[in-house]
Amino acid sequence: MSGPTLYSVTSYGDMITNQPRMPAYAEALRQAITPGCTVIDIGAGTGIFSLLACQYGAGTVTAIEPADALMLLRETAAANGFSERIKMVQGLSTEHVPEQKADVIVSDIRGVMPLFEHHIPTICDARERLLAPGGTLIPMRDTLFAALAEHPESYQPCTEPWLQNDYGLDLRAGHRYAVNSWSKANLKPEQLLSASAELAVLDYRSITEPNMAGTVTLKAEKDGTAHGLLIWFDAELAPGIGFSNAPGQPRLVYGQAFFPFEQPLVMIRGDRVEASVKANLVDDSYVWTWTSSLFRADAARPELTLRQSSFLAQVMSPESLARRAHTHVPEPSPAQAADLLVLSLMDGQRSLGEIASILQERFPERFKDNATALNHVAALAGRY
Ligand SMILES: C[S@@+](CC[C@H](N)C(=O)[O-])C[C@H]1O[C@@H](n2cnc3c(N)ncnc32)[C@H](O)[C@@H]1O
Repeated sequence: MSGPTLYSVTSYGDMITNQPRMPAYAEALRQAITPGCTVIDIGAGTGIFSLLACQYGAGTVTAIEPADALMLLRETAAANGFSERIKMVQGLSTEHVPEQKADVIVSDIRGVMPLFEHHIPTICDARERLLAPGGTLIPMRDTLFAALAEHPESYQPCTEPWLQNDYGLDLRAGHRYAVNSWSKANLKPEQLLSASAELAVLDYRSITEPNMAGTVTLKAEKDGTAHGLLIWFDAELAPGIGFSNAPGQPRLVYGQAFFPFEQPLVMIRGDRVEASVKANLVDDSYVWTWTSSLFRADAARPELTLRQSSFLAQVMSPESLARRAHTHVPEPSPAQAADLLVLSLMDGQRSLGEIASILQERFPERFKDNATALNHVAALAGRY
């Protein structure tokens, strides 16, 4: 399992300035915090929610974040006089054992959508292990919406260069991969062909499953070409406090997700698409599957059905697939022998430098100098 996505300080800064995301989080925190209460900030980043929690009167705040960006909080906590109240924990919340359960847990570990990396399992774990009975989770609930998108620009990567290119080449083989890839979008209301429909509700106070499945019926409200499904979420951080990623709303850091159709659908007002969308967490990321049936106005049977999945977006050689089969017997290799040695030397006694020296001595062909060996050892140690 790899860790969460890494962000730069500038990206964390963009999250802090993002309107109305940040004021909504600040207000939800302000309302949830009672004098002296205990707060856990999961995915603290540079610690903005921890600082705000102190400002609103929290007694103790635990800021949990695996990225080094958390170190900035040491300085900002001191600059604001909160050092005594903020405890920094560098790591994953799922590995954190709390001294005390929290009255309030705040997080934003979503991506373009809330179905992102280990967001949902992380919230479930936090609710079960880290939250005091009757405590408050921020966010409280996200709702996913879908609509038909008419947007040639978002669709362009499906057609160019695969179906048309400037070089007279037949690249059609790439098309089936491109049409199974979703992308981030920021559409305007006039770029929608249908009204939006609710796809799924993720209520963090009760959710237990990381996977999502929903169906929507989307009726064309004007003549046009549907290039795909647009999916976004609206957030309720607390009752009456939230924000929306819908087209026409102020642009947020999340955006919307554009799921292309295998072929553009020319639609007349009154035609409809019935779409079923699934998101399944596999290892560290979601596999999205979208099946879309086009019905002409009042028709009971679909004119066509398109079955697509982000699983089909990856070009995979038969060899790499076979290497992942449960019947595959991996051959020993020099790279594996080197890593085996490094891992066996991590005994809680030797330093990285000592391990690197032994590694270089034993595998001089692979590690030409001590710096190369040290980099390798440090990277391997960093995984644990
Ligand atoms: C989108 S940033 C949010 C930063 C800041 N809280 C904000 O909202 O502006 C999400 C952060 O969550 C962290 N993260 C993801 N899963 C985590 C987990 N299980 N425990 C702690 N941090 C996690 C990531 O490393 C990333 O820095």
